[in-house]
Parts: sequence; C-alpha cells; structure tokens
Amino acid sequence: MSGFTPYAEALPVNNKSGKKFSRAEVAKHNKPGDLWCIIDTAVYDLSKFADLHPGGANVLHDKTVAGCDSTEVFFGLHRSSVLDKYQRLIIGQIENEKPLIIVPQVATLSPVPYAEPAWLSKGYHSPYYNDSHRKLQKEMRYFFDTHVTREAQMHELNNKRPTVELIKLMGTPRWHLNAMRLGPGKHLKGLTLPGGLKGEEFDYFHELIITQEISRIGSRGYSDGLLGGMVIGLPPVMNFANPELKKKVVPAVLSGEKHISLAISEAFAGSDVAGLRCTATKSADGKYWTINGTKKWITNGHWSDYFTVGCKTDKGLTVFLVERDDNVDTKLISTSYSTSAGTAYITFDNVKVPSENMLGPENKGLLVILANFNHERWVMCCGAARGARFVTEECFKWAHQRKVFGKPLIEQPVIRAKFADMFSRCESGQAWLEHITYQMKNMTYLEQNNHLAGQIGILKAQLTRNLHHIADNAVQIFGGRGITKGGMGVHIEGFQRTYKFELPPGRESEYHG
Ligand SMILES: Cc1cc2nc3c(=O)[nH]c(=O)nc-3n(C[C@H](O)[C@H](O)[C@H](O)COP(=O)(O)OP(=O)(O)OC[C@H]3O[C@@H](n4cnc5c(N)ncnc54)[C@H](O)[C@@H]3O)c2cc1C
Ligand code: HEM
Repeated sequence: MSGFTPYAEALPVNNKSGKKFSRAEVAKHNKPGDLWCIIDTAVYDLSKFADLHPGGANVLHDKTVAGCDSTEVFFGLHRSSVLDKYQRLIIGQIENEKPLIIVPQVATLSPVPYAEPAWLSKGYHSPYYNDSHRKLQKEMRYFFDTHVTREAQMHELNNKRPTVELIKLMGTPRWHLNAMRLGPGKHLKGLTLPGGLKGEEFDYFHELIITQEISRIGSRGYSDGLLGGMVIGLPPVMNFANPELKKKVVPAVLSGEKHISLAISEAFAGSDVAGLRCTATKSADGKYWTINGTKKWITNGHWSDYFTVGCKTDKGLTVFLVERDDNVDTKLISTSYSTSAGTAYITFDNVKVPSENMLGPENKGLLVILANFNHERWVMCCGAARGARFVTEECFKWAHQRKVFGKPLIEQPVIRAKFADMFSRCESGQAWLEHITYQMKNMTYLEQNNHLAGQIGILKAQLTRNLHHIADNAVQIFGGRGITKGGMGVHIEGFQRTYKFELPPGRESEYHG
C-alpha cells in the first residue's frame, strides 16, 4: 500500500460478518480453491469466484495477489463499483486497520481537486450563490446520486428510456424537478421547492445547479432522455398557448403523465430554420389545420404525446402543439449516443390540429422558435461546463491510480501539463458561464435577447471547443481504456464518443458568434 495515492472512487467496506483477520492468517489462503486477498483492509474470499473472474483465474493465483494485499493492483484495473457489486465476497477485515481509500459518500462533495466548481470548493468564495443555492445543490446531489445514476448507467447501455416511475417522482411536490428545469417563472409561483426554497425566489443560478448536477451522471444519451425534450418543447406552450391549452398540457407534462418534444429540424432544414418544408394548411372554415411533412433528430420524440411543431404556412412559419394520433409516426434514429434519448424521425401525414393549438400568431412562428434558443443554448452551456469537469475528475483519479514505468501517471510532466490545460478550461468556462448567468438574473427577457444572444452563442462555441480538447487529453491519459466500452474507462469512452452532442442541438455552435 505504501505510495498509493488514494483518489479511487471507492465505496465503504461492508463487513457484515464482523470477523477480523491478521495479515499472516490471510497469507495462508494462497492457492486455487483456497484463495483470499485484501483490498483496502477488507478480506475477500475468491476461492469460488476465481473461475468466474472476467480477468481470468490465473491473475488471481499469481503469488503477488493470492493471500496478499491487492489494493494497488485492484484499483489500477477496476472501477470501485466492481467492489460494490461483489460485496458478498467479503468475509472480514484486517484487525486494527482502517480503510485508506477516500470514500465519497452519496450526496457529498468530491474531495478531488477541481472536481467541484469553485463555489463548492473549500475555502473559496463566490458573489453569485447564497444559502438557498447551497441547500438546493445538496438536495439535487442526493436526488441524482440515489435515484438516477445507477439507472442512467444501465439504460445508457441497454438503450431503454428513463423509467416512467422516475419521471413521475421528479414531478412530485417533494421534488418539483420537472418544473424547476424550465427556469424561473410564473409556473413556480406558490411552490415550495427542495431545500425550502420559495418558487418566487428561484433564479437562473438554481437552474444552473440542477443542470450541472444532471451532467454529473455522465450518461449523455440518458441525460437527454431525462426530459431534454420537455426543457425545449414546453416553453413555447407556456409562453404562447391559450389558457385552456396551457391548462391541459402544462400540468400533465410537469407531473410526468405526458411527454412533449420540440420538433423544428428536418432533413431539409436544420440550422436554416426558415427553410422548413413541413406544411400546415388552414381548413376553409378556419377551425383546423392539416399538417404534412417530416422532422428529424427530435429528442424524446419517440415517446412524446405532444409535439411543438414548426410549420410552413402561406406567409411564413407558424408553430402548433400537435397531439399524437394515428397519423403521427415516430421511429428511433440511431446516433452515436444511446437511444435512451428517444431521438426520433417523425412523419406527419394529414394530421388535423384545431386552430386553438396554434402557439403565437399565424405566420410569426420564427419569433416563437427564436425566443427559445437563448435559454436552450444556455442550458447546454451549463451541461457542457459540468461535463468537462466530470471527465477531468475521472482523469485525475486515474492518473493517480495507474502506474506506468514504475510510477503513477500523474508524476509524468507531460500528463501534468495536460491537467493544467484541462483545469484552466474547466475554471474559465464556469467563470464565464456564471458571469452570463448573473446578467440573465438581472435582465428582463427583452434585455436578455438584446444583449446576450451573442454572448451565449460564443460561450457555447467556446465550451464545445473545450470539450474537444478535454476529450483528446482524456483519451491520451486513459490510453486503450479511453476507447474501450465498460471497465475503468467507461466514462471516457462515452465522452469521447458523445461530446459533440453539445454542438448540433440548439443549432450549431460555429456560426453563433
Ligand atoms: C442528438 C440531436 C438532438 C437534436 N434534438 C433536436 C430537437 O429536439 N428538436 C429539433 O428541432 N432539432 C433537434 N436537433 C437538430 C439540430 O438542431 C440540428 O442538427 C442543427 O440545427 C443543425 O442542423 P443540420 O444537422 O441539418 O446541419 P446543417 O444545417 O446542414 O449544417 C451543416 C453544417 O454547416 C454549418 N453551417 C450551417 N449554416 C452555416 C453558416 N451560415 N455559416 C457557417 N456554417 C454553417 C453548421 O454549423 C453545420 O456544422 C437535434 C440534433 C441532434 C444531432
Ligand atoms: C474482489 C476481487 C475482484 C473482483 C470482484 C473482480 C472483478 C472483476 C470484474 C467484474 C472485471 C471486469 C470488469 C472490469 O474490467 O472492470 C475484472 C477484470 C479484471 N480483473 Fe478483477 N476482480 C477482482 C480482483 C482482481 C485482482 C486482485 C486482480 C489482480 C491482478 C484482478 C485482475 C483483473 C484483470 C487483469 C481484469 C481485466 C481488466 C481489463 O480488461 O482492463 N482482479 N475483474
């Protein structure tokens, strides 16, 4: 154990038996069929497990492992979640010794340097956050650590959508998470939010916290599956629908009973929104519209009940709230991330929509669509800044765990230089994001549109460039594991495959400035 820097993301030892052993006693169990080893003072009986070990039995029979302390070699090869899964192999603990690995408890802050934004780091100050932000952050960390992370990791791999039970839990009065994700506004009036926060006091920093806690789960497709479509699809309903339509749709979506997505992009028109080809034609009596056309890449579209759809009308664009019926067909699009995001290709085939479902004025849909973009891009900036930090933390832990040429990777100057680069990108990105968030907090909606569209656009471009550099460094630091699914590099492999997902949604980054 000497010289082992304990930054592994480890879990508490579950020594149910309460038995204590000396190291000499463990050393006697060192052969096939009678095989023990020590990992961070816990004693594991691997006698039966050896033949099932995914890394093979012979590595466990090696004389440096069998009957020995294998802590260092173990954490050089496995994520600590492996131990969580195999706690049943623990038969006791080494007497008079305490575990040395730093143990992050559920819902606590990471002790790894730069793993948390400065405002959450010990000894640092920030003008932007008060007690209510700190309380909400704690509640959100608890929520995502206990209710979401495990499901997210499973569903990212098996492509299943987030469970309906979880979405509904998010909508309960205990959490009001779905409502909070839409940002400050009238929809929060009168609510008591987690941490005792009053709905009226909810600001953009509270929202930033929620988005950043979601990004810590590290499963990119699943995170979008977790109502990414609602975050961009419901605001046009809240801002532009008539009162009856709002009353029908908004509570049903916020409670998790119904799902909604934003359907603007098409194979024919992505960045160039004005070039949409999906048409809406008014009936002779003006009572309904008929929609025909297709939409592409619609997040959560595959399971949506409602679609906020941009359509071409005779003198411009018009936006409608379309309810799923037999004339709406959705099929999953396979992208580089998990289909747990529900990314869909949609066909509208003579779909009849009542005129009351029009969102905003006829032929003025471009304004409705554009009104959405600043907030959508800012949400993506919050996620991108936190995603960068999450991966940097994974790399920092690994660089302490992994030994090459007889010493931990972190001791190599070229690796340390990479960390300097990654830390500076995390810190500067977050600082700029907080500066813009502070402007949003103090500006009216109109002022935000006048002053911040450019700022948010170039921030998004900058943060996505940061992700590119961080992904490059991360793969270099993790070596083969950075491009291997599962195991130690699971989050790095996922990140280098999916970081570009911050680019196209919210329209592209490079022409934002
Ligand atoms: C995973 C995912 C989820 C999405 N979710 C949704 C959703 O929920 N709802 C929705 O409506 N849409 C969604 N989109 C669509 C997304 O908004 C579009 O992909 C995006 O607007 C870009 O359009 P495009 O892919 O057609 O690229 P194009 O418009 O064909 O652009 C191609 C390239 O040219 C560049 N380019 C375009 N115009 C210019 C210019 N003027 N100057 C310089 N460069 C330019 C772009 O940056 C891009 O790199 C999603 C996309 C993805 C990949
Ligand atoms: C409690 C004890 C152990 C358990 C439960 C366990 C379990 C696992 C599991 C689940 C995997 C596959 C998943 C992954 O790659 O993370 C694995 C891989 C592996 N294990 Fe273990 N293991 C244990 C101890 C050890 C020890 C002491 C060694 C020491 C040499 C070892 C060497 C390996 C190797 C070489 C691999 C393949 C890693 C790779 O492909 O990168 N294991 N182990």
